[in-house]
Amino acid sequence: MKKRVVIAAAAVLGLAVCGFADEAIPLEATGPGRMRTGWGTAQAGKSIGGLDLRVGGTTYARGVGTHAPSRHRIAARGNALAFSARVGVDDETHGRGSVVFRVIADGKVVAEVAAKGGEGAQPIAADLTGASTVILEVTDGGDDNYYDHADWCDAVFTFKDGTRPLRAAEMTRQLGILTPKDDGKPRLHAPARYGVRPGHPLLFKVPVTGVKPVQLAVSPLPKGVTFNAATRVLSGTVAKPGSYPLTITARNAKGRARQKMTLVVGETIALTPPMGWNSWNAFAGGVSDAKMRAAVEAFVRLGLDEHGYSYVNIDDFWQKNPENGRSDPTLAGPERNADGTIAPNARFPDMKALADFIHAHGLKAGLYSSPGPYTCGGCTGSWRHERPDADCYAAWGYDYLKYDWCSYGTVATGEGHERHCRPYRLMGECLRAQPRDIVFSLCQYGQDNVSAWGADVGGQSWRTTGDIFDTWPSVYGGIRAQAPLWSYVRPGAWNDADMLVLGRNVWAGGTDFDAGASRLTPNEQYTHMTMWCMFASPLMIGCDLTAIDDFTLALLTNDEVLAVDQDALGAAAARVAEDAAAGTEIWARPLADGTFALALFNADDEEQTVRVSFADLGLVGAWAVRDLWRQQDEGVFDAAYSVSVPGHATHLVKLTPQKGAGLAPGVRDIRR
Ligand code: GLA
Repeated sequence: MKKRVVIAAAAVLGLAVCGFADEAIPLEATGPGRMRTGWGTAQAGKSIGGLDLRVGGTTYARGVGTHAPSRHRIAARGNALAFSARVGVDDETHGRGSVVFRVIADGKVVAEVAAKGGEGAQPIAADLTGASTVILEVTDGGDDNYYDHADWCDAVFTFKDGTRPLRAAEMTRQLGILTPKDDGKPRLHAPARYGVRPGHPLLFKVPVTGVKPVQLAVSPLPKGVTFNAATRVLSGTVAKPGSYPLTITARNAKGRARQKMTLVVGETIALTPPMGWNSWNAFAGGVSDAKMRAAVEAFVRLGLDEHGYSYVNIDDFWQKNPENGRSDPTLAGPERNADGTIAPNARFPDMKALADFIHAHGLKAGLYSSPGPYTCGGCTGSWRHERPDADCYAAWGYDYLKYDWCSYGTVATGEGHERHCRPYRLMGECLRAQPRDIVFSLCQYGQDNVSAWGADVGGQSWRTTGDIFDTWPSVYGGIRAQAPLWSYVRPGAWNDADMLVLGRNVWAGGTDFDAGASRLTPNEQYTHMTMWCMFASPLMIGCDLTAIDDFTLALLTNDEVLAVDQDALGAAAARVAEDAAAGTEIWARPLADGTFALALFNADDEEQTVRVSFADLGLVGAWAVRDLWRQQDEGVFDAAYSVSVPGHATHLVKLTPQKGAGLAPGVRDIRR
């Protein structure tokens, strides 16, 4: 990519000064994943539909396809000299679509080409000398943006020798640790409501932070329930359905705290989104009993349980795997026992003992299967063994099942909706028949709009997208996918935006199994955590807990941020305002105490001011604003609130109504 041509004559003559040619930097090398698009994700060398770049019958090996409206910012800092490309509407639209391509240098249009579907690519070129910021823009050409698949082919920037555009992480200030240090005072972090089915075993470890020892008490205890102050665990069974208000008190050398929690004995469980850790992103196909136990110990040592995390879930690869078993004896052997029950692989010698170990730490145990004959990793699935498998999970003592579509497509019967929901309804019934609560986590990547029916088949959560991994296009794509789905969310029924990819993840997407340090910038990690809490998504940590860094731990354990995720109203955020040109978005969700959580998201690469007009959100009166990441009050604002947000970061605030403030007349929900 980088072309350095020594002026040969000078070298031959032994002249002291050599000249170098300028740098040719292809558009693909400027982070196409950062390119804002009207639809889809821009990728190097591909149309926005994921095909080869093809315009007017000619295929281009180089370039980037996008979708109007689109903007791509290049921080040139005076080092750019020129830009050239061939542009047009991709042939994948079959002659439809019309767009305008523009090159904008420091706010001034320096080149512009209008293009229509079916035409050949046209040249576009611009002198960029001295420009600080260059924007490649595609607009819809004055009509709508249907079929506006726009290709920048053979697109190349020329930079002065030895210079390059700034990378994403260099284009903006990066946030450090914002979560305040624990001041040692006791603080309780239980959800306001916790559900368990009548007669089913209860296991709830009270989340509390502060300097140890913390003396805890819970009262009144419903009949059948005991509280162990040493382990912080509420256990037992309650036969009679109903709401049981409890008061939890905590006392330590620094002070006292008190919190109310209602134990709701009834049919709905997971009244707040499940929080925990899952093995896949950390260990993928290398998971074992020993790694699970080490994760449990690290979980407790790090105090994740003190902040409300409670599930420790084994993902794929606890079962046998005929394909991999050929080269890995730990995965070989009969997939099922003579009586048809599932046979775990040799790395998991005793599944019940592992669940007992997890429970002994006050935590809950989860595992993974597929409705198909094989899981996504090729391990044994539950196809035609659904009931015995569910019976087995319950007998071992598991509390959570992630049920992953994977190979089910090869055996699926039925048409349309029925084809999609049948396997989940079947397993939902099998789990429901068990004498213990097993959270049912559907994983079929959002097919057939699962948000609309996941709860009807017994699910407490359902994945809404394909797998995310630790790159900005992946996380940003995940955020955008949630926009139409908020209205399906309620206590016991959660959109699962996928596991958290914060910290060091091993699984890096596809067949890439060594991601190393996170490929997300610190700002992007704030946006990821903030938005998952806004979505009321389950929060499943994915990184290796035995090697976690301080930044990641602080991101995962900010109690005021987690309280948004765990809010008892269970109302997911909607995108309530968007400035597409600026790349800013405001998301809002109502909270149970009459306040609102507001996320001010800056999808642009560079820092900018994000402004919220209360009237535009349907709010009247004055509102106290609290910065939840920093846990600081920002003051009272009566018409608008604005804040400077670094590129790709999100500022999270809570709005508390002052006297006379509230929703404007006629507005019933801030999300409308
Ligand atoms: C699918 C799921 C992932 C993970 C893997 C395991 O890709 O979406 O979350 O469970 O399978 O093979």
